[in-house]
Amino acid sequence: MCVSKLTMMLVLLLVTKLVQITSNGLLQLTNETVQQTGHAFHTNPIVLTNTSSFSTTFVFAIRPVTSPASGHGMAFVISPTKAFPSATAGPYLGLFNITNNADPTNHVFAVELDIIQSSEFDDIDGNHVGIDINGLKSMEYASAGYYVNGFQFRNLSLKSGLPMQVWVDYDGGETQINVTLAPINANKPETPLLTLHQDLSQVLTNSSYVGFSSSTSATLIASHYVLGWSFQLNGKAQNLDASKLPKLPPLKRKRSMILLIVLPLLSLCLIIFVSLLVVCYIKKKRKFSEIVEDWEQNYGPHRFKYKDLYFATKGFKEKELLGSGGFGKVYKGTMPGSKIEVAVKKVSHDSQQGMREFIAEIVSIGHLRHRNLVSLLGYCRRKGELLLVYEFMPNGSLDKYLHNQPSITLNWMQRFKIIKGVALGLCYLHEEWEQVVIHRDIKASNVMLDSNFNGRLGDFGLARLYDHEVDPATTHVAGTLGYVAPETMRTGRATTKSDVFAFGAFLLEVGCGRRPIERGREDEILADWVYGLWKKGQIMKAMDQALGRDYNEEEAELVLRLGLLCSSSKAEERPSMRQVVQYLNREVLLPDLLSLMSSPSCFGFTFETNTEFDVTMSFPSSSGDGTHIPISESLLSKDR
Ligand SMILES: *[C@@H]1O[C@H](CO)[C@@H](O)[C@H](O)[C@H]1NC(C)=O
Ligand SMILES: *[C@@H]1O[C@H](CO)[C@@H](O)[C@H](O)[C@H]1NC(C)=O
Ligand SMILES: *[C@@H]1O[C@H](CO)[C@@H](O)[C@H](O)[C@H]1NC(C)=O
Repeated sequence: MCVSKLTMMLVLLLVTKLVQITSNGLLQLTNETVQQTGHAFHTNPIVLTNTSSFSTTFVFAIRPVTSPASGHGMAFVISPTKAFPSATAGPYLGLFNITNNADPTNHVFAVELDIIQSSEFDDIDGNHVGIDINGLKSMEYASAGYYVNGFQFRNLSLKSGLPMQVWVDYDGGETQINVTLAPINANKPETPLLTLHQDLSQVLTNSSYVGFSSSTSATLIASHYVLGWSFQLNGKAQNLDASKLPKLPPLKRKRSMILLIVLPLLSLCLIIFVSLLVVCYIKKKRKFSEIVEDWEQNYGPHRFKYKDLYFATKGFKEKELLGSGGFGKVYKGTMPGSKIEVAVKKVSHDSQQGMREFIAEIVSIGHLRHRNLVSLLGYCRRKGELLLVYEFMPNGSLDKYLHNQPSITLNWMQRFKIIKGVALGLCYLHEEWEQVVIHRDIKASNVMLDSNFNGRLGDFGLARLYDHEVDPATTHVAGTLGYVAPETMRTGRATTKSDVFAFGAFLLEVGCGRRPIERGREDEILADWVYGLWKKGQIMKAMDQALGRDYNEEEAELVLRLGLLCSSSKAEERPSMRQVVQYLNREVLLPDLLSLMSSPSCFGFTFETNTEFDVTMSFPSSSGDGTHIPISESLLSKDR
C-alpha cells in the first residue's frame, strides 16, 4: 500500500473533526487552539505478520504560536485504533492518558517529534526525537538533528517552522528500527538519528492503522503540519518530490512581530521627525511672521520683509542698537543683498485700528524727498509691532554733540549750517510739499547728521501711530516739554506755528548748548534766561561756553534773537518757516524784538511734570494754515 501524496490522502485519510486540510492540500493537525488534539490516519488498516517490514517518509513543519515556549509535539503513529477518545492533550500528544501510559495493551508504536521537555517522561530537552512503544517515555531518543558525511552532527530546531523530512524504516528480519531526520531538500542521511532493536510484531496487533497525532496544551500552542507522506509495507517508501509539496502558509506571526514592534517604532520615529520638522517650520514661520493685508499691495516697494530686517540687524542685537526713546528702539542694519545701511525703528503698538490710514501716511511721507529730511525707506508690520526703515545717518543725532560734556563739539560754522538745513527741511514740510506736514517733535535729538554734518530732520509722522489707539477723532503726539508751544498745551492742537515754537527752542539749544529746560538750575527755562540777558543788552553771554569766542557774532546774535522771536508765547507773533529761512539767509532783516513781542512773562511754563509727555494733537490737514480737527483735552502720560 502506498500513499504518495497528501493530496491523495485527502480522500483516504480518516480526518478527525479538528484536523483541517487546507485548500492547497496541506494537512494541519492542530489549528492554534488550546488543549487540542489532532489525529489523521489512513482509512484502512495494514496487515502485519511476524516478519513484516515497512518503510515510511513524511515532511512536517511545526510553527510555534505561543512564544517563547510553544507546544506540544507531534508523532507518527501505528496503532490498533484510529480514535483516541480518552487520550489527553498536552504532553500525551493525544495518544495516551495518565492511567494507560506505558500500558503494554496499548499496542502503539510512535515516533515523537517533541518540542517540550516533559520531566515525567525523562525527556532530554525541548527539541528531541524519540521512539515510543506504548508510552511517552522513549525507548530511544536524541536531540533533533542529522549526520553529514556519516558522523558530523548538525542539529535542527523542530519548531523552526521550516519543513523537515523524517524516514522511519523497520526491518522485520533484523527487528531494527531506524529513524532519520533531515532538513527539506537534503538527501536522506546515511547514518540514522535513532536506531532501536525491537521486534514490533511483539508490540503491534496484526491489523494496525498508520497516521499522525499531535496536541497543544492550555498555554503552549503550535501549529502542526504534514506536507507530504508515503508508506510502503515490505518495501521502500516512495520518495517525496519536495517541489510538488504544498506550500506552508506565510509566516504571519513573524510578520506581525514586524508589524507589532518595528512598524509602530518606525512610524513613531517618523511622527516625531515630522512633528519636529513642523515645530521648526512653525517656529521659523512665527519668528518671521508678518501681517500683510491686501491693501498693502499698493505699497509694494515700501513694504520690507521682516526676515530681511531680522538678518539686516543681526536679529535685533543689542550691539546694533543705535538708540532708544521717542517711539521705540532704533537698530542699525545692513540690508542683505544690496548692503545698503539702514536704521530700523521698532515701534510697538497694540491696535490694528487706523493702521491702514497710518501706513498710507507713512508711505506718503516716504515720498518726501529733501536733503534736510531723513528719508523713510519703508516699513514692515508684525503683530503688535511696526518697523520703520530709515536711511542710516552715520553721525547720529545732534544732541550727542551738545549736551553732557560731549567729546566732539561742533564749531559755529557747523552749527549754523545745521540750523539753516533744519530750517529748510521744516520749511519744505510746511510750505513746499503737496500737503502741510507738521513735524510735532522738533528737538536736537530728532536732528540727524549725515556724513557731511548736514542737519536732517527725522522721526516725523510717528505720532499718528498713537493717534489711532484712542478715539479716531483725537490724535496723540509726543511733545517734549520745553518744545511744546503754550497754546498747544492748552488746546492740544499742533500747528505750523507750534512747530516754529519748537524750532525757536531748538535755535536757543544749539546756540547756547543747553536744553530748553534744565532742572536744578536757578534759571531753569532757557528762553526766559536768554530773554533776560537780551533785556539787559547782554544776549551774547548766552552763547555756548564750549565755543569760546570762536563764532561769527552777527550770525550768533541772529540765531539767539530769532530763537527768542520764535519762542514767543503768542503764535501770531512767531514768523513762518519761510520767513525764518529768509532771516537766516539775511535776505530780510530781523525786526526789532521789542516792537513785536509781548510781555516777557509769557515765556514761562508751569508744568511740573516729566520732561517728556504726550499731548493730544491733530495730524495736519491739507489746508495750509494749520486748522485742525477737534481733539480731546486729555494730557496722557505715556511710558516710553
Ligand atoms: C480550530 O478548529 C475548531 C474546530 O473545527 C474551530 O472551532 C476553531 O475556530 C478553529 N480555530 C482556528 C483558529 O482556526
Ligand atoms: C485512559 O484511557 C483508557 C483507555 O482508552 C480509559 O479506559 C481510561 O478511562 C482513561 N483514563 C482517564 C483518566 O481518562
Ligand atoms: C545545536 O547544538 C548546540 C550544542 O548542543 C546547542 O547549543 C544549540 O542550542 C543547538 N541549536 C539548536 C537550534 O538546537
